[in-house]
Amino acid sequence: MQTVTTKDEAETFALGRALGAAAFPGAVFALAGDLGAGKTVLARGIAAGLGVSRGVASPTFVLMATHTQGRLPLAHADLYRLTSEDDLVSVGLSEAFDDGGVVIVEWADRFPNALPDDRLEVVLSGDESRVITLTAHGPAHAPLEAVRA
Ligand SMILES: Nc1ncnc2c1ncn2[C@@H]1O[C@H](COP(=O)(O)OP(=O)(O)OP(=O)(O)O)[C@@H](O)[C@H]1O
Ligand SMILES: [Mg+2]
Repeated sequence: MQTVTTKDEAETFALGRALGAAAFPGAVFALAGDLGAGKTVLARGIAAGLGVSRGVASPTFVLMATHTQGRLPLAHADLYRLTSEDDLVSVGLSEAFDDGGVVIVEWADRFPNALPDDRLEVVLSGDESRVITLTAHGPAHAPLEAVRA
């Protein structure tokens, strides 16, 4: 586990951009943290690091959005409004994990069983600056722990 502290939105975005630049086919970013913690800011940064500069919003209402204009396909899911594990099927998350692209999941901690074993867990906390912990599961994701903006 590694910890990074960011003092504002721009620093969190920059960390995300560095993570996106280091992402590889099959990379999974499992984001957790309270409402307003900065998950979507980090997700937009990851997208930018993949070369996706437009159209990344909070997918809270659509549950999952896909972006194909970057270096790798990106699926961005938000499980906040998902009420049951059964509904995960309709989100299409498991297909996204199989398709060789990059997947970002906001509120990933709500449905831990829905995640692949190999992933980078990112937990954001704090009200002024944000303390962001990066925990890699599986050897492929290990280098992502050391990524800095
Ligand atoms: N260090 C920081 N990193 C990220 N965001 C910050 C930071 N400091 C302040 N903020 C502010 O916190 C908010 C984070 O919003 P964001 O939508 O990314 O949160 P979220 O975790 O996705 O919330 P939700 O669960 O509601 O989707 C933004 O308004 C941002 O400007
Ligand atoms: Mg969000």
